Amino acid sequence: MMAVLGSAGRLVQFARSSVSLNVRRHSAASLAQAAAAAAETQENRKPKTGILMLNMGGPEKLEDVHDFLLRLFMDTDLMKLPVQNKLGPFIAKRRTPKIQEQYSKIGGGSPIKHWTSMQGEGMVKLLDEMSPETAPHKFYIGFRYVHPLTEDAIEEMEKDGVERAVAFTQYPQYSCSTTGSSLNAIYRYYSNSGSRPKMSWSVIDRWPTHPLLVECFAEHVKNELLKFPEEKRDDVVILFSAHSLPMAVVNRGDPYPQEVGATVQRVMERVGHCNPYRLVWQSRVGPMPWLGPQTDEVIKGLCERGKKNILMVPIAFTSDHIETLHELDIEYGQVLGEECGVENIRRTESLNGNPLFMKALADLVQSHLKSNQPCSRQLMLCCPLCTNPTCGQTKAFFASQTL
Ligand code: FES
Repeated sequence: MMAVLGSAGRLVQFARSSVSLNVRRHSAASLAQAAAAAAETQENRKPKTGILMLNMGGPEKLEDVHDFLLRLFMDTDLMKLPVQNKLGPFIAKRRTPKIQEQYSKIGGGSPIKHWTSMQGEGMVKLLDEMSPETAPHKFYIGFRYVHPLTEDAIEEMEKDGVERAVAFTQYPQYSCSTTGSSLNAIYRYYSNSGSRPKMSWSVIDRWPTHPLLVECFAEHVKNELLKFPEEKRDDVVILFSAHSLPMAVVNRGDPYPQEVGATVQRVMERVGHCNPYRLVWQSRVGPMPWLGPQTDEVIKGLCERGKKNILMVPIAFTSDHIETLHELDIEYGQVLGEECGVENIRRTESLNGNPLFMKALADLVQSHLKSNQPCSRQLMLCCPLCTNPTCGQTKAFFASQTL
């Protein structure tokens, strides 16, 4: 998510011949149309079970960029700034033109709502068949920084008369900055309004090693490796790239780095350790220390050491958005790749509309509902050095739900 905050100033060049990387751009209008159609399909459902798909979201249009950044910089679960209510709006305003420029290069907006709607549609269709006792199912999208906002989705779920609500994070690996922030938003919705939920809530808070998730990533890695020239295939270094975190977050005990590592390990087992690999971290911003090594520095370092065939795998995102389409494809795959003299640099496709991924989502919800557990045991433990009182209140809120 920090990709939207920095690193926009580099020159972007498009025409390249030696770098074979697919740039996946979408027309914002066509994606918005598809999302509207998906929303219409499920509009009239009277659900027994509501599944709230939690994610940060991204601006669909260039004019949404400012409000997206404003909400992001005002999120105290994500970052603490001095005089945040003044500095947050100031930074959001200053960053807006640069970030708009990035979005204009990937088709004018983020495709994340389009992909989430498609994944949600696929998931509930499967769930209605797989779990008739909890049907009908309906999915809701709860974004943190753009519409549809988490708070509006909860309101809609309450209005729809949902009996059983599942907060389902779309981040496979848990971080207090992402999933934690979304769960705190659910808790705050009820505590600010002074009302108790009419529906029973539970949470799917992490799923880094789900077998079908691992299978999807492994399938995409194998498919993309086949696109390298045969004589270079064995030489390819696989770079699993995940969004970095400030070391201040890592050092308070955030579980994210370890969970991303777990996903990587399972995927490599699934592909039979066919190539050498590294886990690298992208999207660092600002002068403070962040978790490394950084994806761009690793690409440079590999090329300097003669390893010039590289496959980038976005391992912590399940849909395309600015960090894949701009940062990986354009900034690293095109501009940096050319500067470093790579021979071949490619990126695996995001899971987007992969039917097996929809099956993974449905399977996760079905097993979760069967388990009758409000959340994982791991969620109940606050970071050992957490200083945010809302985290504990949120955990108590979910633990107190009667299922
Ligand atoms: S920051 Fe991790 S539980 Fe509060």
